[in-house]
Order: sequence, then structure tokens, then C-alpha cells
Amino acid sequence: MSQVILIENNKTMNDLLSVNLTSYLGVDLIHRHNAQETINLLSILPNIDLIITTSQVDEEDTANLINNYLMDNQLEIGLIVVGQALRVRSKNSIIIENVLDWEKVIQVSAKALGINEKVLSKKIIPDYVPVPVDYFLNLDSVNCDVFIRIKKSPTEYQYVKRIHNGDSFSKESIDRYKIQGLDFFYIPKENHRNFAIFLSNKLVEKLDSPDLSESKKIQLMGESYEIATKEILKLGFNSETVQLTDTIINNMVKNFEKSPEMSGLLHKVINSRTGLLFQRSHMTSIVACEMIKNLKLNSPGAYEKVAFAAFFHDIYLAENEEYSKINSFEELEKAELNEADWELVFNHAHEAADLIINHPEAPIGSDDIIRHHHGSVHGKGFSNIIEKLPDLSKIFIIAHNFVLELIKYKENGSSEPKPITDELYKRYPSADALVIIKSLEKTLKKRSR
Ligand SMILES: [Fe+2]
Ligand SMILES: [Fe+2]
Repeated sequence: MSQVILIENNKTMNDLLSVNLTSYLGVDLIHRHNAQETINLLSILPNIDLIITTSQVDEEDTANLINNYLMDNQLEIGLIVVGQALRVRSKNSIIIENVLDWEKVIQVSAKALGINEKVLSKKIIPDYVPVPVDYFLNLDSVNCDVFIRIKKSPTEYQYVKRIHNGDSFSKESIDRYKIQGLDFFYIPKENHRNFAIFLSNKLVEKLDSPDLSESKKIQLMGESYEIATKEILKLGFNSETVQLTDTIINNMVKNFEKSPEMSGLLHKVINSRTGLLFQRSHMTSIVACEMIKNLKLNSPGAYEKVAFAAFFHDIYLAENEEYSKINSFEELEKAELNEADWELVFNHAHEAADLIINHPEAPIGSDDIIRHHHGSVHGKGFSNIIEKLPDLSKIFIIAHNFVLELIKYKENGSSEPKPITDELYKRYPSADALVIIKSLEKTLKKRSR
């Protein structure tokens, strides 16, 4: 049995790597917390087969310290570094830059340990894919068999078929599973893509149905938003996820255009039983559209452009909705995130902008709005200096900020909203920001009269 040392301070990564290294690669895994502990162990156990380490543990330059030790002592041990490149390259080292790519780490480990890749690829993707039970609330039949998972022994699961391909079922029967505490159904992995297509098509059909009340529609948009973002992150863009996102975005614009006044619509969205990220996206698109209208910047396609940006701007935070509230460097530091999550938040605007470049129907320029949504030109980090950005980016930043403050009010339960716009003037003191904020105030004042 191969012996492998693992140094990984990100808890999730550590769990994923540990499970996969032991169950799929069958290694004898030894956990160490830092370079010193590892070096101490190597001095008594120099025949370790492989070391997997994160490049940095807190302030310690872990990977470089271990690499130097291996070279100084001429130890021929493979070293997989997750994160930054080594200062001194050695032929035994491999760098995996994406700090969350556990599958790559397992693949590379298998190779380093001489384990056949074919055997591995069969094992690494589980045979069944978990699908949230909530997804089934908008369906009344399904195009594949659906299973639940039961624990057979500490390491083994059994899958029991609960819904047959083509069976119809009621919303109540799905609710019952939820009440019993079931979070996920399982579907065979070869059916996953077709299931996602089936689900997307059903949602589009429902969203397009003319006899849906406004509040029902918002509810359904929220559920569809959640499904679309998660499936895009898992499966990428395909014609169905593209169609579903288009339908949701068109409805965001339609809701705005139909609505006699902004605050009524915001009120409906904020009080709907939908996810935080969807609410923020929809509200940001509403407020940005209102500013565009007031400033008479509504060139053809402008509403669609901001709605599209609103949909996708925080897609990489979909699994950590709370992170989407971080809107300044100070807040990011205060959140005390681990290194991987810090990077995720710091880069999410840039990554999302790059993602939607692959979306075949992304309106031209929507990637810029996404990239700029925290004020920085390159989509990394945060900035209050927004003068040089395009008008639509500035409008989006201010709308986005305004909505974030609204949500915070709601959450703090305060009934008397303090004038949020004062904060905005302070944060963005430039002349053109002033014009944009004024355009929003115009609408807000109209209401209070
Ligand atoms: Fe963001
Ligand atoms: Fe956001």
C-alpha cells in the first residue's frame, strides 16, 4: 500500500482529497499540518511515496520548504503542490494551480502512484448524481428513473428506485419527501444531462405561460434561476440552459417594463420566497433599468444588457450566497475566509465575465458590466474610483450597491429606511456618479410624495 502525506488546510478540500485518496486510490494517508511536521516525519520515514501539499499554510511557505528539504536530502519523492509554483523546480514536482480542483489532484496522484487511469475514471465519478428534491416541485413527471440513497454500511450506499421513468407524481408526494428530511434524489449519471434538458424545457414552458400571476411568476423565476445557475456551473452552457437563462432574463425585463412603479416591484421581489442571489439579481436589474430610463440612456438592448449582467454577475458565489454581500476590500478582510474562498470572492467578477464570453447569446458589453461590478477595471477586488468605467457599468455598480443596502435593511428588520442614497454619494463622489444617483432619487421621491 502506498503511503501518502497530505497537507491541506482548506477543510472541504481536505475532506474530498482524503475520501478519494483512501477509497479510490487505496492509499495509506498520513495527515500533517505544516512543513515542519512533514519534515520531522520524513526524517524517520524517508520512503514515503508521495506528498500532496497546499503551497502555503497561513504564513508558512510550506511547499517550498518541503521541496528544499527533498532536494537537499536527495529524496526521490513525488511532490504535488496545490496553488502557486515552486521557487526551485524539481523533476519530481507537479503544480496544480486551481486550488479547488480536487479531481485533478486525484488524477495526478493516481499517475504518480502508477494507478491505471481507466480504473480510476470509472471509480471517480459516482454512478448516481444527487439532484435537489426541490427541482421536482416544478415537474409532474420525469424522463428517467429516480432513486433515493440509503446507507448500507459506513462506506457503502444502496440506491432504491422511487420514481420510474415516465411516471407522473404530485407536488404533495414530493413535499412529503421534504418533510421527511430528504434533500436529494439520485439519478443515474448517464441520465443527468437529459434530465437537465427535460427540467429546463419544463421551466421555460411554465415561465412562458400567460396565466401565471406576477407573484407566482417571480417565485418560478427564482426557482429557475437557482436551477439554471447550478446546472451551468456543473454542466456548462447547452442549448437548454441558454434557453432557460434567456427566458428568465426576458422576464426580468418584462417585469420592469410592465410595472407602473419601481418600488412596488422591488417590494414583491424582496418579499418573495426566493433565494438571496436571485432577489439581488432581479432587483439590481430593476433599479439599473429605472436609472437608464430616467437618464434617457435606453438605447435598444440596454435593459437586456443590464438584466443579463445582473443574472450572471455573482454566479460563482451561487454555492456561498452570503459571500455575495461582500462589497469592499475591508469587508472581504473582515470575513476571515480561508485562502481558497478569499480568492473566490476576490476574483469572482473576473471569472464570471470570462464565463459568459462562452454564452452564445450574451449581449455585447455585458461581460464588461460583470467585470466592473465591484468597481475594479479588471474584475479583481474592489474600487470606489469608477469615473473611467463605461456609463452602463457605473449605473450597474450604483444599482447593485443600492440593492445590497436595501437587502441589509430588510434583514435587520428596520422599518424606517435611512436615506441609502447619502451613503452612495459618499462612496462615489464623482460628478457623473452624482447624476446617476440623482436619477434614482427622482424615482424614490416620486413615491414618497
Ligand atoms: Fe459580486
Ligand atoms: Fe452582487
